[in-house]
Amino acid sequence: MRDVIVAANWKMHTTPTDAGELARVIAARTRIAGVARVICPPFVCLAVVRESLAAVDPSVSVGAQTVHHELAGAFTGEISAPMLVGLATWVILGHSERRRDAGETDALIGRKLGRALDAGLRPILCVGERLEEREAGRQEAVVRQQLAGALAGHDPASLRGGGLVIAYEPVWAIGTGRNASGADAARMAAAIRAGLATAGLAEDGESTSVLYGGSVTSVNIGEFLAEPGIDGALVGGASLKPDEMAGIVARAGLTAQGRGLVP
Ligand code: 13P
Repeated sequence: MRDVIVAANWKMHTTPTDAGELARVIAARTRIAGVARVICPPFVCLAVVRESLAAVDPSVSVGAQTVHHELAGAFTGEISAPMLVGLATWVILGHSERRRDAGETDALIGRKLGRALDAGLRPILCVGERLEEREAGRQEAVVRQQLAGALAGHDPASLRGGGLVIAYEPVWAIGTGRNASGADAARMAAAIRAGLATAGLAEDGESTSVLYGGSVTSVNIGEFLAEPGIDGALVGGASLKPDEMAGIVARAGLTAQGRGLVP
């Protein structure tokens, strides 16, 4: 049975002064059985968020927003996977903002994936097409290519053991207030699962959680979670608002209940 997951991508928001309190409030307001919750603050807030969650609700996990593709070396300003051990247990990889702003390619993201798995970090691999690619009807081809590029050369057993999660985040829906439809997301989730099978994750095509991300709110989350192929959300802007997170996780709890994940 696939995990139901709500992951908060705080992006470049919060400081060590306010992040612990925000994490505490979100944790307290999202105590819902059957939903895996993950908070991904900026690197400098990982320690304070981890401490805060350990005190209030250790079942909420902490994630990083990226990781470097090398273990150590002369890479000014970068953070490697071994440095995150003890601070985070999840990591977002290949977010479209990093593909856009840091020039991350599928091959580079694939190397990061290897580092994350070696360090025991559970990866959320982001894929998604740009608007012009969707308008040209190429969205599934683009996403299949991103998936194949990042997964190439990885041992299916290690991806399986590492709990790989895929987030479908159409670029045109991120931070725009314009979301994909539930049906669009479900079609893409099916294409992603077919791509996973091609990458050698035959059975895992069905057991890998696929999340939707892109202008998710407490109002539209139901449309995505009504789709049996969608297993949760990667939330950006709304993840900084406790009311929104409470609504999103409550709706995810209904899905978890419906799937028999709640004892
Ligand atoms: P928004 O929810 O702000 O559109 O961001 C989505 C996202 O990029 C999550 O990783």
